[in-house]
Amino acid sequence: MRVVISIGGSVLAPGLDVGRVEGHAAVVESLADEGCELGAVVGGGGVARDYIDAARDLGANEVQLDQIGIDVTRINARLLVAALGDFVDPTPAHDYEEAGDAIRRGDVCVMGGVMPGQTTDAVAAALAEYINADLLVYATSVDGVFSADPGTDADAEKYGTLTPSDLVDVIAPMSRSAGASAPVDLLAAKLIERAGMRTVVLDGTDPAAIEAAVLRGEHTGTDVVPEGSGAEPTYWTQR
Ligand code: UTP
Repeated sequence: MRVVISIGGSVLAPGLDVGRVEGHAAVVESLADEGCELGAVVGGGGVARDYIDAARDLGANEVQLDQIGIDVTRINARLLVAALGDFVDPTPAHDYEEAGDAIRRGDVCVMGGVMPGQTTDAVAAALAEYINADLLVYATSVDGVFSADPGTDADAEKYGTLTPSDLVDVIAPMSRSAGASAPVDLLAAKLIERAGMRTVVLDGTDPAAIEAAVLRGEHTGTDVVPEGSGAEPTYWTQR
């Protein structure tokens, strides 16, 4: 079973919590031991936002800001690599081809951002399509896709299951309203729809939640299930 896990920067390393990084690395190792072929895409989190805010005040343009964001995602990817040790290539992949090469060699592939104008949400979706993944998991700080921001709207309801086109419909209006934080960005949702990629959005704060979702399909977040693929995945046991 081939899996891409997108780990938000604030999920992997809030305040550079070493134990948290070790916990996520342990899950990556354990899934690989179970026979999963894995790609891990790491986000920039609060550190990226701090650097971007500072550079914006200094007059950097949007592409320059994105480049700074990408550099921070790659630093976070290196943090995960550090915790994984000899298990992975020491340099995060620079593009999908390098990532695919790592998977073909039988290595776990770790990467951050790749180019301006997007986030690592889209990188994870594109990587999942590129390597023909069976499953894409977004380990975010929110436990699934909600009808509104659950942090600010008490009436926000969680979707248990969505089709990829439902996901696009839910995310699109969120992406238009300033300051709204969608759990997965619109480009990623569109890539998921185009690829018909089975996807899970969950709270990845506890790395064990990622492991349960990948190995057994057990989680409390949102399943994005392509039309015609059936609600029950058949490959959990085909690792
Ligand atoms: P993240 O993927 O962490 O973005 O990349 P984010 O949406 O701000 O983080 P979360 O999901 O809320 O935790 C950090 C920044 O790096 C740049 C963007 O500026 C992004 O906001 N980036 C990242 C790119 O320009 N291209 C990429 O491929 C990845």
